[in-house]
Amino acid sequence: MDYFNYRENTLFAESVSVNDIAQQFGTPCYVYSRATLERHYKAFTEAAANHQHLVCYAVKANSNLAVLNVLARLGSGFDIVSQGELARVVAAGGEPSKVVFSGVAKTAAEISYALSLGIKCFNVESEAELERISHVASQEGLVAPISIRVNPDIDAKTHPYISTGLKENKFGIAISRALEVYRHAAQLPGIDIQGIDFHIGSQLTEVEPFLAALDKVLAIVAQLAEYGITLKHLDVGGGLGVAYLAEEPPHPSTYVSQLIERLAPFPDLELVFEPGRAIAANAGILVTQVEYLKQNQDKHFAIVDAGMNDLLRPSLYQAWQNIIPVSPHEGDTQQYDIVGPVCETGDFLGKDRALCLTQGDLLAVRSAGAYGFTMSSNYNSRPRVAEIMVDGDTVHVIRKRETIADLYQGENTLPA
Ligand code: LLP
Repeated sequence: MDYFNYRENTLFAESVSVNDIAQQFGTPCYVYSRATLERHYKAFTEAAANHQHLVCYAVKANSNLAVLNVLARLGSGFDIVSQGELARVVAAGGEPSKVVFSGVAKTAAEISYALSLGIKCFNVESEAELERISHVASQEGLVAPISIRVNPDIDAKTHPYISTGLKENKFGIAISRALEVYRHAAQLPGIDIQGIDFHIGSQLTEVEPFLAALDKVLAIVAQLAEYGITLKHLDVGGGLGVAYLAEEPPHPSTYVSQLIERLAPFPDLELVFEPGRAIAANAGILVTQVEYLKQNQDKHFAIVDAGMNDLLRPSLYQAWQNIIPVSPHEGDTQQYDIVGPVCETGDFLGKDRALCLTQGDLLAVRSAGAYGFTMSSNYNSRPRVAEIMVDGDTVHVIRKRETIADLYQGENTLPA
């Protein structure tokens, strides 16, 4: 559930008219709802209330400081994949002691920075990385808290680009090697074994793959205990899907409670979640204006002011996101391709959408709060758009629209 609803035939974000936001701040812009973010976060924590847990919101989904700050105030931890994301968490008031560091290519500098801040855990993705972390920590006279990200070889049944838990994917350490790697890690001077971790993919719409992965990983936890390696936490990654179209993903509470049931034999094992999309996607929309309507032969195009550089998911994954009029009006409905200004045939936000449109209309692309702004770029030298957060009846600009000058700030021509 989210807080984007029609009132008197116009779309509202919480108690603010989206039309008013567009008039005041221009288009395109991302609009987020604080209440929705909070509601989604609490869906996880409330369902997990009876078991020791930590929700580490996946920063990559939406890394705006205001978004991170809203979650940090609720006590959220964070899953990060770069020094930049960690710096954002700190700038937003997040606690490093609640940060888990994922990602396959952590540099020595990133490891050192994260160690100096005292993060909760490095999610180790390879044996070479384990050696590097131990080395960096030892050099600094520190011990690095780690968990091994195991690749459980489970089919997440999602888009191949966002499936990560199959043995052919680049992520994690083969589960068959897990015991050996843990026993080696236990010998390394700069390593303090804390947990175990998996992440099998994103936009999963069933609980079964999570449970299958969890069962495999719990078997490892039990075997490690026999070797005298007692883990403090188990990190189940992120990946819970949302409804973009007709998907029916489990509610976070169903997902969380089913995972927790499996943990009954491990009452002391803290459960860590890394949700990104399930918290942020439906907490945001992308507002765009129709610049032109155009008909080529039988095809109707609505050319809008937002493009693939602003919202890449439709072009990159053929992802379907709902596109709705901000203020619906009477008239003939056509099947429109909603296309952007970028010079690429792949630049579309949606295809074959039945809409009644006139030039100047505002459209809202739903479910754009996750992997929207964070995947945006300046392609075609288009300034990145403004981000707005609505909190009840108050509107905050949480990232101002880039200017043309911002585009080439930092660039230099060669000397004469
Ligand atoms: N943890 C790890 C280690 C991850 O790699 C990811 C996402 C997450 C957590 C959060 O997953 P979520 O709960 O959001 O599914 N750009 C794609 C999604 C890529 C996800 C990458 N990893 C999209 O727009 O669909």
